[in-house]
Amino acid sequence: MAKNKSNQSWLHDHINDPYVKMAQREGYRARAAFKLKEIDERDALIKPGQVIVDLGAAPGSWSQYLRERLKLPGGALSGQIIALDLLPMEPIAGVSFIQGDFREEAVLARLEEVVGAAGGGRCIDLVLSDMAPNLSGVAVADAARMMHLIELAMEFSQKYLKPTGALLVKAFHGSGYSQTVEAFKRQFVTVAARKPKASRDKSAETFILGRGLRHP
Ligand SMILES: C[S@@+](CC[C@H](N)C(=O)[O-])C[C@H]1O[C@@H](n2cnc3c(N)ncnc32)[C@H](O)[C@@H]1O
Repeated sequence: MAKNKSNQSWLHDHINDPYVKMAQREGYRARAAFKLKEIDERDALIKPGQVIVDLGAAPGSWSQYLRERLKLPGGALSGQIIALDLLPMEPIAGVSFIQGDFREEAVLARLEEVVGAAGGGRCIDLVLSDMAPNLSGVAVADAARMMHLIELAMEFSQKYLKPTGALLVKAFHGSGYSQTVEAFKRQFVTVAARKPKASRDKSAETFILGRGLRHP
């Protein structure tokens, strides 16, 4: 009964959500596109010519936004977008997609191969992670899973980002959040927290942005 009520309230919020309507109008697969757009507009993250990795990419609205932003005036793509998710994703022209679990070595190895083909070594300008584990409802366990995904994204970034590159990850305010920010500060020259308007007020989600590797 209680669950039913909360489902109904989610559905009500979703149907009346201006970002859901805007996403439908603009052809984005999810309202999440507007979170990245807002951060990009504030922080000038995305530019044509960049190599960008989109972790936790399905259903694909961030990749759609990236594809738009890497477009040259004639429409051609300048740069490279590599997307990865556990779930399948409808193709997006110009976006390379890997289906698999980012925590698995074999999947990481495939990603590293594609990155290698994109230029190898430190060729990535921007790593994005909108990954979130399926929530169990046990706060401590959920926070630990989230932190693990963030740590892996940080390790990957340390290895493959250009010295001036950036990492943007989704995090949840709560247990482990301040340790994550501290770890970002050890790895990046500048660190900022971002809560875009499109991120629902009720949600504990915050994005952490690190720019420039301290020890490339
Ligand atoms: C909030 S959704 C991402 C929405 C996406 N940014 C968009 O704009 O369409 C989070 C995604 O993270 C993915 N995910 C969670 N854990 C993952 C993992 N270990 N490896 C790969 N993807 C994962 C989920 O499958 C889910 O599709």
